[in-house]
Formats: sequence, C-alpha cells, structure tokens
Amino acid sequence: MKSLNASLMTTAVWLALCSACPSAHAADAIASRPWMNGSKTSVQRTELLLKAMTLDEKLLLVFGYASGDQLAQVDSAVIPGVNTKEVIATVIPGSAGYIPGIPRLGIPAQHQADASIGVRNPNLERTSLPSSLATAASWDPRVAEAGGKMIGLEARQSGFNVMLAGGVNLAREPQNGRNFEYTGEDPLLAADMAAGLIRGVQSNHIISTIKHYLINAQETGRNIVSAQVSPAALRMSDALAFELAIEKSSPGSVMCSYNRINDVYACQNAFWQNQVLKGDWGYKGYVMSDWGAVHSTVLAATAGLDQQSGFPFDKAPYFAKPLKEAVEDGSVPQSRVDDMARRILWAMFDKGVMDHTVKAGPIDFAAHAKVSQSAAEQSLVLLKNEAGVLPLVAPKRVALIGSYADKAVLAGGGSASVTPIGGNAVPGLGPGGWLTQVWQPSSPMKALQQRMPSTQFSFDAGTDVASAAKAAAAADVAIVFVHQWTAESLDASLTLEGNQNDIVSAAAKANPNTVVVVESGGAILMPWQPDVKAILAAFYPGAAGGEAIARILTGEVNPSGRLPITFPASTDQLVRRQIAGKSDGPLFTVRYTEGAAVGYKWFDLHGHKPLYAFGHGLSYTSFELGGLQASQAKAQVTVKFSIRNAGSRAGDSVGQVYVRAPQSAHWEAPRRLVGFDKLKLKPGETGTSAVTIDPRLLATFDEATGEWVIAPGTYEVQLGAGSDDIRATAKLALAGRRFTSAQLRR
Ligand code: BGC
Repeated sequence: MKSLNASLMTTAVWLALCSACPSAHAADAIASRPWMNGSKTSVQRTELLLKAMTLDEKLLLVFGYASGDQLAQVDSAVIPGVNTKEVIATVIPGSAGYIPGIPRLGIPAQHQADASIGVRNPNLERTSLPSSLATAASWDPRVAEAGGKMIGLEARQSGFNVMLAGGVNLAREPQNGRNFEYTGEDPLLAADMAAGLIRGVQSNHIISTIKHYLINAQETGRNIVSAQVSPAALRMSDALAFELAIEKSSPGSVMCSYNRINDVYACQNAFWQNQVLKGDWGYKGYVMSDWGAVHSTVLAATAGLDQQSGFPFDKAPYFAKPLKEAVEDGSVPQSRVDDMARRILWAMFDKGVMDHTVKAGPIDFAAHAKVSQSAAEQSLVLLKNEAGVLPLVAPKRVALIGSYADKAVLAGGGSASVTPIGGNAVPGLGPGGWLTQVWQPSSPMKALQQRMPSTQFSFDAGTDVASAAKAAAAADVAIVFVHQWTAESLDASLTLEGNQNDIVSAAAKANPNTVVVVESGGAILMPWQPDVKAILAAFYPGAAGGEAIARILTGEVNPSGRLPITFPASTDQLVRRQIAGKSDGPLFTVRYTEGAAVGYKWFDLHGHKPLYAFGHGLSYTSFELGGLQASQAKAQVTVKFSIRNAGSRAGDSVGQVYVRAPQSAHWEAPRRLVGFDKLKLKPGETGTSAVTIDPRLLATFDEATGEWVIAPGTYEVQLGAGSDDIRATAKLALAGRRFTSAQLRR
C-alpha cells in the first residue's frame, strides 16, 4: 500500500509539473497502467510493465512475422494466443516485418520498415536519400543526422515505428554488393556517420536498428559463410565501428547477421552477443535477427538473441511455441525470456515508441527531396579536375552519354531499395522482383538544361561505341555517365559492365574535354582515368541526384565530399582478388587474414598506391591546412588545427587527423584515422577546430585480458586533406596505459 501511495504521489507531482498537462483521464490511465507514467525512467517503466505481463505476453514480443506473401503461408497459432489471420489483417502490406501489440497493456504493435536510405515498401512511393556510402562521403555526421530525421519522419508518417536502418559493416571487401548500404572502410568514420543517421531516425520517437552484427562482409553465401578472423582484430575494426556507433547513438536494437563468425552463427554467438555487446559494451537494447538468420531455439536464446524476426524466413518458428516449451522444460530459464522482453520494452520506452503512437499521415515530399538533395550536394566527390574543365562555364554544345542521364540516376538494390516518388524511371532492368533495378526519376540532363539555357545539349544512350564517339566529337564538352548496379544478396565486380569502359575511352579520344560521372555502389576500376579531364563520384545520389550532379558540375555547389573508401588501381592490390564461395552448397570459410588492416590500412601496410586514396576529394577552391597542435591533458588527447580557404569561392574542407604509431605499438597498419572535422569557409576565411581522440583509436586490443592497451612511445600526428595528402605533422608522446571499454563509460 505504501509503495502504491508513493507512486500515486509521484504521478500527481509529475502531472502538476508536466508541460503537456494531461487530463484527469490520463491520470486514471496512469493509475491503472503505472508504466505509462512519463516521470519515471525507462528502466523503471519497463520493470513495472514486465511485472504485469504473463509468459505468453512476453513471448508475443520476441517473435516477429514477415509480411506479404510469406505471411499468408504461415499456419495460424504459430504462437499461443495469436491468430495469424489477425496478424495478416493488421500488418502494413509490403512492410519488412511485424510484431503484434498487446492492447491489454497498451503495448503497440511493432511495424518494421527497411532501411538506411528511406522507407522501403513496394506499395509506397517514398523519398530516398543518397546511398549511405555517399552520405559517408560528406564526412559530416550532421548530414547523416538530417537525412535520418527525414526518413524516420517518413517512417512514422507511413505507420512504422521500427526502422531497420544503421548499416555500419565496414567496406572490408570492396566487392561486397552491399557496401552502398554502409558507411565506408574506417571504423571511426563509419561509426560517426551511422550514429548520425540513427540519432536522426530515433529523433522521431521510433526505434532504429544498427546492423548487421557482425562481419557480414560479403553477400555470396551469406547464410553459410564463416568469417574467420581473430576477435582482437575485429574489436579494432568491424566491432569497433559498432561499439562507437552504439555509444554515439544508442540504437534501440542491434540486428545480428546471417553469417557465422569463427564458425558460430552470429545470431547464436554467445561471445559476440552476451559477452561483448551486452557485457563489455553494456548494451541495454535488444538483438533482433536478420530475416532468416536464426538456426535454433535454446542455443540462440541463451546466446543472447532477443527477438526472432520475419518468420517464416527462418526454417522454424524457433521463438514461438518451441521457446515456450523450452522455458517449460527448463532448457531456457524464465529469466532469459524476461530479459528478452525487458530489452524490447526498454527500447520501446526509451525511444518513445510507447508514448508516441505512430499514425500514417501526409508527407511533405517536396521538402524531403530537398533534404536528400542537400545530402547529395555535400557528399559527391570530385576525384579529378584538370585544366579547369569543371565547373562548366556555359559551353556551346554539351554531349551527355550513357546511363539514362536524360531521365534518371541509379539506386542500389535489395531491401534498401526505395520505391521512387513518381515510380521507377527505367523499369524492367535487373533480375526482377525484389532485385528490380531502380532508377530515381531525377534527370541530370534536365537539371543541366535549366541551368545552362543557351547551351545545346545532346543525349546518346552510350550503348554503341561509334555513336558515342560521334556524339562526343560534335560537342565542346562530353559528359559520360557510367554506372555499376550493386544489390543485396549479390556481390559486385569492380569492372564496369558491358562496353562502358570502351565508351568512355572512345569519348575521351574524340573529345579532349571529357568528364565522367560515376554512379556506383562503391569503388570501381577506371582504365580510362588518365585520358579524361574530370571525374565525379556520384555513388547512388538519391531522389534528387540529377539536380545535385548538375549543381556540382555547374559550380552552383562547390564539391566537398571526400572518399570514405579506397579506389584501388587494380584488383591485384586487394586482399582477395575474387570473392570466395558460392551462394548455396556446403558451409565454407573466408579467412580475413588482413585482420584489422582494412581499406587504406592494407594499402599503407603494403605500400600500394591506390587510384584514389581514402579521404581524397577536390574542390573548386583551395585550402591551406596548418596550425597543428597535439596535446594531452589527463588521459585525453586533443588535436587542434586550422584551415584557410585560400581561393575565391566559398567551400567546405575536411581536416583529417591520422596517427602513425611507433613499431613497438604493434598496430595492424602504420596509420589510423583518429579524428576529423568539416569546416565551411568563405573565401579568405580561416576556421579552427579541436578534435578529441578516442583512446581506443590509439590502442590495440588484448584478447587475453579484455583490455585496450596504449603502448608508450612517440607517435606522429598527421593533418591531411586526404590520407595521401598530409600537410602537417606533430609529435605526441604517450605514456603506456591499459583500460576497458566499460571504464570509458564511467
Ligand atoms: C536484410 C536486412 C533487412 C531484412 C528485412 C534482410 O534480407 O539483410 O538488412 O533489414 O532483410 O527486410
């Protein structure tokens, strides 16, 4: 009685103070459902709700359905108390997944939508951001956050409260067909950019995932491959990206991946889920499985999986009846099911899902297209620009060649492929079904024409070499658009498909002012690179990509993207020239012998000179970087620098801070990116920055003790405009130090 009075008192005080001042009706509701008292913490509310739940209700929360055709095949009563027909009736058609609500307790249904660049649903036209890799090229987490805010709002306005966003797998394998969904090859950059996106998504009172945990580095055989790599190396690379991103954005859920990690399936991997994620990193949210990534009941449950997703993608409803039976026969302790439900409910309270019911409503698509356009404009990377061919200064005749540049820009395929507003501009391409190639209806040609009304434009499809050469020869400037379509479940070739390389070479031969715009999922090989005057990496530039490309080509926007990945000069420079394994068949292993030496670190280690280095990107103005100072106060290292815009146009520059370790530190590679900052500078303006360095970026991971270790010695701090363009260096003496991830959180 005493505690009830106390809780009613707290409610009364909260009601008196609360700004929204709920009605007496709300007060009654809180009295009957004390977990709806917003003055309590998410942990307190979760515990109150958990106490009111039956075992069957908890089980309801841990089992998710897919929607659409698959769901129609499910027998009813897969889970006690659930009628599948009702589930089918409540699901948003075409959505990725669904977990029924529990009206008795005021727990809303979980409506899940893919993915990181926008709301994916074959039935709903929605705004697409540029690919996550493109946005990572902005080197500005604020850009990712603004994008996340926009797509999270569209998710809410479409009735979704869980967004399957936050792809942060490192681009360890340049031929991985999903690199476009991720945020690059460096753990710090990848984490900062994914965290920005997640913060933005969750600012809409919905849950975002972070995915795919862990080392789902290739698509070929993703359900059968074992990624073989030392845990210490993972902690300093792929896992570090997750660790940092989780700390910086607190995603409600972590999605475990399809693959095995050192022989153990990710979704039943006790080491990575229980010990590392929930133990060492203190993660409070829930682990949901990727669609079809569950292989057991008892093993998965005790290894830390909290929610089975997307049934019937899995072979069995492991977390439905079988889980109840496992609890009843004691093979899964009831406390584990409590913990699963606790984690899901905590995320629902903490991210606002419990208090802010989602409701489909009107969407301001025009405003959202601007968000997407702005992201592209801050992200596209000018790789090469000779003899001032760009920006275009009203040439008389411009020939556009290839890649449907008269009507569209390309998008990546699979569960991250958003149905464009206005429909697919180039229908009928790709393998079809969920892997249909999507072209966003944003025409680079139209956008250029609007900006250069006195220029005469021609368009050639870029399918026939002779015709492309003729078109190029007849113009003052030839702009060849090339593309590489990549998609989930498939891996990519770095060599452009068809005769695209011949088309570029022929155009370059016919016209000395040839510019190439590359629409790609990631790195590609460019055999024609020496022969063309300019190259713009447009990645997949999103819903307004045509506008963004035109504004950069004409100089209305000064390019400021920097590569979040390395473009190799040839496949000989890669760790693996070819992707190993097959999609079906016996289990197989890929040995990631490079360990933590991912991307530019591998190139540095082996002295390979890439075609375009990590961090590279040009501008229409020039910048002077200097004023480098590195200092240490207590255990905190801070690096200060300045950038001056030495040219005559406003522009943004990214100060990139790398650290080179002494040999005795035994780093995986000579250098690591440890900090960065993008500054907006008017002509003549000087900006300054101070970045603090996360100590994990200066340490190696000691598997035996579970500690990070900074080796004593003299380190070199480098300030660069790119990883291959170091402008200043400074010395930094570090004392030896050991610490755990948990100690950093205190
Ligand atoms: C993908 C996930 C996605 C899920 C739901 C899976 O195939 O790997 O990234 O969120 O499907 O559509």
